[in-house]
Amino acid sequence: MTILVTGGAGFIGSNYVLDWLAQSDETVVNLDKLSYAGNLQNLASLKDDSRHVFIHGDIGDAKRVPELLAKYQPRAVVNFAAESHVDRSIHGPGEFVQNNIVGTYQLLESVRAYWAALPASAKAAFRFLHISTDEVYGSLDKNDPAFTESHAYAPNSPYSASKAASDHLVRAWHHTYGLPVLTTNCSNNYGPYHFPEKLIPLVIVNALAGKTLPMYGDGQQIRDWLYVKDHCSAIRRVLEAGKPGETYNVGGWNEKANLDIVRTICGLLDGLRPRVDGKSYADQIAFVIDRPGHDRRYAIDARKIERELGWKPAESFDTGIAKTVQWYLSNQDWVANVQSGAYRDWVVAQYGATVAA
Ligand code: NAD
Ligand code: DAU
Repeated sequence: MTILVTGGAGFIGSNYVLDWLAQSDETVVNLDKLSYAGNLQNLASLKDDSRHVFIHGDIGDAKRVPELLAKYQPRAVVNFAAESHVDRSIHGPGEFVQNNIVGTYQLLESVRAYWAALPASAKAAFRFLHISTDEVYGSLDKNDPAFTESHAYAPNSPYSASKAASDHLVRAWHHTYGLPVLTTNCSNNYGPYHFPEKLIPLVIVNALAGKTLPMYGDGQQIRDWLYVKDHCSAIRRVLEAGKPGETYNVGGWNEKANLDIVRTICGLLDGLRPRVDGKSYADQIAFVIDRPGHDRRYAIDARKIERELGWKPAESFDTGIAKTVQWYLSNQDWVANVQSGAYRDWVVAQYGATVAA
């Protein structure tokens, strides 16, 4: 048996591939175009593992993806591939439209043709699991109830609009063509292999480098944080037992203001790696101009996945953030390679100049 994972060299995708192969011998075919966010070094421990087949390619490739599906005959596709950074979407929305909307459309078409030709039992068992975000629901006011699966879509950034569009395509391919799809809408992840352009890894890396810790606006925006390994376990559970056509919100019940997150990280670093001048890393916090269109608050109501599929997160925010800070302290080479750009040479080091097709 085989599953096809797309975007499996990114932050969540690589954690998912590592976790999958730690728990199962089922082969993972990993299709990733290795954008700036794709880092094969995350998967270095799988270098000689025949259960992991890496394919350097694009979900939007209408020739290559059908060939891969025909060759590897996956029983499921888990679609992580996307541009994921809100700030980048503000400066260059075109990549988000292309990868997240057009790419997902093309992937759905390739998968639909493959699925339609499967024998009846394989066709019934097949699943297309689309990984999405809470940002599609827009912004909450302070006292609003958390997002449920029936909350209206109201995306506010080019990123969230592109994810919302892809969710709608996935939904339509189920209703119109019967493709057995599942969608998960998850809150903010954090943990190992998080690219240091996002808040938590950026703050850890900048703090240690003596740089400023930029707080957009007043720092009182609220996000709902989930340790990445818990997101991976939720995805495995939805793939195993989710009902085709359904969506599942995934979150850790950890609403925190950005400034509190940054102060928590500074406090952990003060204990684990004190500054030489004896001052707190919190002295490096600097308030900067706000993100345009910045959503004020996200909060996930994760009761459906708990009630219907029995999933709950294993980590609290305190345990997850402590593990994360420790991971970054223990993996300074990974950080240095990302910052120098050397991680981009890893594909050649690991697979040679031509990557397996
Ligand atoms: P990431 O940016 O770290 O990784 C994305 C990966 O997808 C990269 O390896 C990139 O090379 C690959 N990719 C992009 N476009 C591709 C294409 N056209 N074809 C093949 N590969 C492509 O992102 P992430 O944070 O790991 O997020 C993964 C998914 O989870 C995304 O769909 C994102 O919207 C969603 N999500 C992320 C979070 C979060 O907090 N990071 C929360 C909820 C949902
Ligand atoms: O909610 C899920 C989403 O979480 C995912 O869909 C996205 O892919 C993921 O990138 C993340 O989006 P955010 O915009 O919430 O994450 P980011 O780490 O960019 O920012 C978190 C919060 O911190 C947000 O309110 C902006 C703020 N911020 C961010 C950075 C990078 C700062 O104040 N300073 C910063 O330097």
